[in-house]
Amino acid sequence: MDKNNALIDLNGIIKTYHVGTVDVHALRGVDLLIQNKEYISIMGPSGSGKSTLMNIIGCLDTPTSGIYKLESELVHEMDDNKLAEIRNRKIGFVFQTFNLLPRASALHNVELPLIYSGVSSSERRLRAEEALEKVGLSDRKDHKPNELSGGQRQRVAIARALVNRPSLILADEPTGNLDSKTGEEIMEIFGRLNKAGNTIILVTHERYVAENANRIVHIHDGNIAKDEILVRN
Ligand SMILES: Nc1ncnc2c1ncn2[C@@H]1O[C@H](COP(=O)(O)OP(=O)(O)O)[C@@H](O)[C@H]1O
Ligand SMILES: [Mg+2]
Repeated sequence: MDKNNALIDLNGIIKTYHVGTVDVHALRGVDLLIQNKEYISIMGPSGSGKSTLMNIIGCLDTPTSGIYKLESELVHEMDDNKLAEIRNRKIGFVFQTFNLLPRASALHNVELPLIYSGVSSSERRLRAEEALEKVGLSDRKDHKPNELSGGQRQRVAIARALVNRPSLILADEPTGNLDSKTGEEIMEIFGRLNKAGNTIILVTHERYVAENANRIVHIHDGNIAKDEILVRN
């Protein structure tokens, strides 16, 4: 793999949490290269370090040590303001629990990241409507989260992740709270987004979900145990 134009280049990433007098070694020296437009799953059992790795890749957290380059920018050296700016500009997040504002409409939930980026209200509305259309929810834009099904809520969350037009989408167990048929519908959306040019990093503990990607990075006890390229017929 070509290190020079990698989108993500992680080198010797260590993350240690200090809880009271105990050190928790969540990541023990992760090396990982991810190219632009890849669709990759990070798979491993509960507690293996998947979310920790995703939070570092997503600039939500910084490593205890190691080097992280995102499009050649040195993320591990950035302060909180710079991290927030990178997140807002480059990365869309999707979580297992949707994380929507309960009292706001689907449209308003999707508009939120644009408020933080200082986009005008008319432009916000346009772009939020466009993002909702991409996930097939134009007819639900005035509904609040409790007036939507689980799958529809996750689609609102995906639209919110897309609204800043990020190149990188990070999804942490996005089907974890959904039945399997609804989960498949959500996975179809990620497949489409990848074909349209987005890089997708999907975190899951389930093999059949991980297999939607083209590559599975297996993580065990804070280490990469196996890097598997999936060959399709
Ligand atoms: N904020 C935190 N403080 C202390 N320990 C943590 C924290 N986040 C995660 N851990 C610990 O780090 C390890 C990896 O956790 P995590 O990355 O959430 O795993 P996964 O997402 O694979 O279930 C676990 O042992 C977990 O208990
Ligand atoms: Mg997790």
